[in-house]
Amino acid sequence: MKAKKLTGERAAEYIKDGMIIGLGTGSTAYYAIKKVGEMVKNGLKIKAVPTSKETAKLAAAEGIELVELSDVKSLDLTIDGADEVDPDFNLIKGGGGALLREKIVASATDQLIIVVDESKLVEHLGAFPLPVEVTPFSWQYTQQMIEKFSCSSKIRKENGEIFVTDNGNYILDCDFGKIEDPVKIAVELNKLPGVVENGIFAEMAEIIVVGYNDGHIEVL
Ligand code: 5RP
Repeated sequence: MKAKKLTGERAAEYIKDGMIIGLGTGSTAYYAIKKVGEMVKNGLKIKAVPTSKETAKLAAAEGIELVELSDVKSLDLTIDGADEVDPDFNLIKGGGGALLREKIVASATDQLIIVVDESKLVEHLGAFPLPVEVTPFSWQYTQQMIEKFSCSSKIRKENGEIFVTDNGNYILDCDFGKIEDPVKIAVELNKLPGVVENGIFAEMAEIIVVGYNDGHIEVL
């Protein structure tokens, strides 16, 4: 918890007056958003695009001015969490189910800053099951096609019910084991009818802020 707070707050230091920023989703991004809220109360002038309904609610409560992505040309920076980060800065995201909006916002941003605690650093992606957002229509058929890539998958559930994303879709958590070629898997998955987006963020992150439980921070 301490590491998440430190890294979220450290990343907020990159934000400057006048910027339009993206705000990520999850328990680490939470601390960045709280810090941005504090900075706004102290006079910082920024506008923000949230990556989920949950983040929109939190940011609004913090007094952060929200805008639609379609109302701005691009974003100066985005701060978001991740479920895994490999040495080439490839990521798995979507543990919180917000991967589609997160990927759109990440692609619109000049600088993607990822905030993680040390537990998220891995040699190879894949120990964390890859979230894939799929359309509810015939999702089992989409699942069969995904499993042809030699993975096993589970439909995500919450309180016994199928989890529904902010976009009205479902999530398949796909266990590929070690992912040797994240770029290839990401491209191939998105070719399948019924796949809306997958949680591999390849070659998108520019800065990784890592928080350690002993209280120190590393910026990669
Ligand atoms: C949500 C995400 C989150 O950024 C990711 O799951 C990390 O969350 P946390 O900071 O709570 O560990 O991708 O879709």
